[in-house]
Amino acid sequence: MGEQVFLVTGASRGIGAATARMASARGYRVVLAARDASSTARLAAELGGPDRAWSASCDVTRYEQVAGLVQRVEEQWGRLDVVFANAGASVVTSFTAEDGAPPAEWGDMVLTNVCGPAFTARAAMPALTRHGGHLVLTGSAAGRGVRPGSLYAATKWAVTGLAQAIRAECVGTGLRVTLVQPGLTDTGGIPASRAADPKLAPEDVARAVLYAVEQPPTVDVNEILVRPVGQDAHR
Ligand SMILES: NC(=O)c1ccc[n+]([C@@H]2O[C@H](COP(=O)([O-])OP(=O)(O)OC[C@H]3O[C@@H](n4cnc5c(N)ncnc54)[C@H](OP(=O)(O)O)[C@@H]3O)[C@@H](O)[C@H]2O)c1
Repeated sequence: MGEQVFLVTGASRGIGAATARMASARGYRVVLAARDASSTARLAAELGGPDRAWSASCDVTRYEQVAGLVQRVEEQWGRLDVVFANAGASVVTSFTAEDGAPPAEWGDMVLTNVCGPAFTARAAMPALTRHGGHLVLTGSAAGRGVRPGSLYAATKWAVTGLAQAIRAECVGTGLRVTLVQPGLTDTGGIPASRAADPKLAPEDVARAVLYAVEQPPTVDVNEILVRPVGQDAHR
């Protein structure tokens, strides 16, 4: 991959960290973004330090932080080739009962999962377009089917629509847009009620991301749904 630059949001753990590791192993220089830069700093050191990987504190719900990060990447490395808009949050919700998080706590999830990738796309698109780049968004299998009471699923339906809207606007720019929709993945974020369900490893999702990114520049893998063998159709 030479000197290509691959930015990952939500890179401090789970799917984002696994994808950053895999991209780094394939030769990309990586930028690791999360709110808590201490975890991403450890990962950046593991991946070769400042010439190969650097970490940044960035809250994707704050447009100015995402735009500032993209600007720093271009100033430091002169290019931006792949952006993985992956940061996400999940709380359990119910519209009919007291189960799950109280409504006062729902807003952060909506901002992170919907405004996060939207702001990331808006901030990165000019740089990506300059370099014939690739935007990859983390949706979810939950963004394709009905999940009773789940506002999280509704945010991931929004990501499905967002990817399509961005791709439609990018016609003629050479930019590629891929939506990756993982099924249940073994990271810190899964609810206790699903602990016994079959799960992907974060690396399984990372391979799907790299598969899309490593296609020839004329090939746009629009969507990848990747689920563990045996995952129930409605989970
Ligand atoms: N795990 C699953 O079963 C599953 C299935 C389908 C889709 N997904 C999606 O895959 C993505 C990654 O999930 P995961 O399970 O790997 O998550 P995770 O282990 O909970 O990690 C979430 C990552 O996002 C970062 N993050 C959260 N809020 C942020 C914000 N406002 N700004 C910047 N970074 C933020 C976290 O770092 P900080 O807290 O330091 O900011 C962390 O790096 C999410 O979009 C999730 O919805 C997950």
